[in-house]
Amino acid sequence: FTVDMDPNAADKGAYPFYMLKEIDEQPAVMRRLVQEYLGANGKPQIDEKLLAQMQEADHLYIVGAGTSYHAGLVGARLFERFAQIPTSVHISSEFAYEQPLLSKKPFFIFLSQSGETADSREVLVHVNENKWPSLTITNVDKSTLSREATHTLLLYAGPEIAVASTKAYTAQVAVEAILAKALGEYLGLEAAQKFDVKDELAKVANGMQALVDSKDEIEAIASHALSKPRNAFYIGRGLDWSVSLEAALKLKEISYVQAEGFASGELKHGTIALIEKNTPVIGIITQSRTAGLTRSNLEETAARGANILTIASRHLAKEDDSIILPDVDEMISPLLSVVPAQLLAYYTSLGKGLDVDKPRNLAKSVTVQ
Ligand code: AGP
Repeated sequence: FTVDMDPNAADKGAYPFYMLKEIDEQPAVMRRLVQEYLGANGKPQIDEKLLAQMQEADHLYIVGAGTSYHAGLVGARLFERFAQIPTSVHISSEFAYEQPLLSKKPFFIFLSQSGETADSREVLVHVNENKWPSLTITNVDKSTLSREATHTLLLYAGPEIAVASTKAYTAQVAVEAILAKALGEYLGLEAAQKFDVKDELAKVANGMQALVDSKDEIEAIASHALSKPRNAFYIGRGLDWSVSLEAALKLKEISYVQAEGFASGELKHGTIALIEKNTPVIGIITQSRTAGLTRSNLEETAARGANILTIASRHLAKEDDSIILPDVDEMISPLLSVVPAQLLAYYTSLGKGLDVDKPRNLAKSVTVQ
């Protein structure tokens, strides 16, 4: 396939499905985001008015649905680490009807590839009624969520056609990382000043390229581990748990395998009862602090017959790991650990002869509540 991707090309060219094209476009999207948001010296080019309003906040509320919600789970860690503002993440359809007690000075961040998700729009209407400030991070300029929010940041990912979101997820996480760095620097915080997001995103783009270039190995893993079982687990801790939720959603929505993303430390509190002979359990291991714990949780499932696979960062890798990720700053490792999961879902669906781009029961943009 053509290597010099044009994420804005709206046809799938030589690709069998848009989803594979969009997975392959992710390195180019990372490089585009560096170009759009980070000047020559790597300093974020973010509207000062946005930073000033976010600085006023005593709590950031991230709101999204599906994959966008999962991107918010990563973003919350980035904002707390680099901007040190308490941040929570909410499923749009829940927040709209079960609103938590809010802080005195809330700031809302809406994540939405389409900018049209009805569940999220429902929340923004309420936010506007209360005159709270908001930002929409979206792939579609002038979309409803973009027009109706105080601020907008674009994903520059090009049209995302496949129902299963891939490049929009990684673009959302990258924009959140850039914004967290910009906000932290605006607040004069050392952690943000030391975080070289431009260099890290360049490494991410190269790492993504290496992973998409190794798709044959990932296809082989999908065909022998995921083609038969009815269910599967992705497990991890912290950011690896957040990615396990996104990894499971990809597998569910396009291959119809009953996959669950699960906090690996929580398995022993009940869910491990579901582990049977050959149940696939895929461990995501990119965080130094919890790598050993996740590996022992994996062993516990193997002792009960599970077929364990691992997606591990090189600096934490062991001899027999299934997929090794190039090293990047652990705070943005989700940008790499999600790529094998996207490809495992793609090849599992393909192997079942399913319509990868248009899975049953689903629409690309859910404009109903
Ligand atoms: C993701 O693969 C799904 N297609 C779906 O969960 C999607 O992320 C969700 O509907 C939110 O859409 P949005 O980002 O356009 O708001």
